[in-house]
Amino acid sequence: MADETRPSRRHLSSRMPPRFDLSLSENPFPPLPSVLRAVHVTLAQANRYPEFLPRRLPTLIAEHVGVRADQVVVGSGATGVAMQIIQSLVRPGAEIVYGTPTFDGYPIMCEMTGVTGVPVPLDKAGNQDLRAMLRAIDKRTALVVVCRPHNPTGTVIPADELKAFLSGVPAGVPVLLDEAYVEFLGAGEFLDPVALIAKYSNLLVLRTFSKAYGLAGLRIGYAFGGSELTARVRKLQLPFGMSAAAVAAVTASYAAEPELTARILRITEARDALRATLLTSGLTVPQSHANFLYLPGPGIVTALRRAGIAAKSYSDGSARIAVGDPAADRAVLQALTSTSTSP
Ligand SMILES: Cc1ncc(COP(=O)(O)O)c(C=O)c1O
Repeated sequence: MADETRPSRRHLSSRMPPRFDLSLSENPFPPLPSVLRAVHVTLAQANRYPEFLPRRLPTLIAEHVGVRADQVVVGSGATGVAMQIIQSLVRPGAEIVYGTPTFDGYPIMCEMTGVTGVPVPLDKAGNQDLRAMLRAIDKRTALVVVCRPHNPTGTVIPADELKAFLSGVPAGVPVLLDEAYVEFLGAGEFLDPVALIAKYSNLLVLRTFSKAYGLAGLRIGYAFGGSELTARVRKLQLPFGMSAAAVAAVTASYAAEPELTARILRITEARDALRATLLTSGLTVPQSHANFLYLPGPGIVTALRRAGIAAKSYSDGSARIAVGDPAADRAVLQALTSTSTSP
């Protein structure tokens, strides 16, 4: 279940595919040639099963992150890992507290698992309202989700505020820190997650290869945290659930960090340039720390749709668009700044 999966690809009439589909906050670049080659080699052995329970992938990721392999749980995208976390830590009827709007997966997974979602509205600036989230925690709360950066607004909780929040959550309530877009953060927003999980044994950090690594189609996600918590989550590990292609893709991606970093820079520079121009045209656009921009206001989705651009839409007409494809960015600018089509 990618973000917003259900409605987003259907924004435009089925007979008229969008010129640009920016609705799923995907990476605009295809996989690096070295990653493709590595995956291709594994496909020649696709008659063989992968490992019964994944060991190589958690070991690779653990070495990269700086934790032990038993502190890492892998799954089918961050979505698959989040689902596994919910199913192993939250009983049906219990509650999950999260900001709203957020990654669509959270309310959808609550519905799928019979868990009650407790959505806490964002503040006016698009930040998760951590005080209100703390107030929403009660004896029924079995999980709290915090996104950093947040989807859809791209805002970032300052490190000291997050630490104060974690100190305020009862130690028996697990917290899921969703870092799906962490690689897009600037140096100023750095947070040491390894130190954080050492301090807070109720904390799990969630990450994905779908966004900065550009491998959404391969479905590779992981979480890391204290070994007691990860052992509970690993109990639901799906046998043969992770492909050999995932191991190859992650190995090759870690070997290609400089190229991937250069791509991230291109995306974030394009994002900031697009935002600056939209601001000059009078639009309100929160500063984003991810690979998308949130465009609040009625009529935005409609103006984009008229120009053949699919965006993730929100109930008030606001939109979230993936950035970094120069042609798509130009089309967005034209759709939102030309007088005939402006919202
Ligand atoms: C905040 C957030 N978390 C998790 C995910 C899930 O990513 P995936 O399942 O592709 O790894 C997304 C996808 O859009 C997201 O925006």
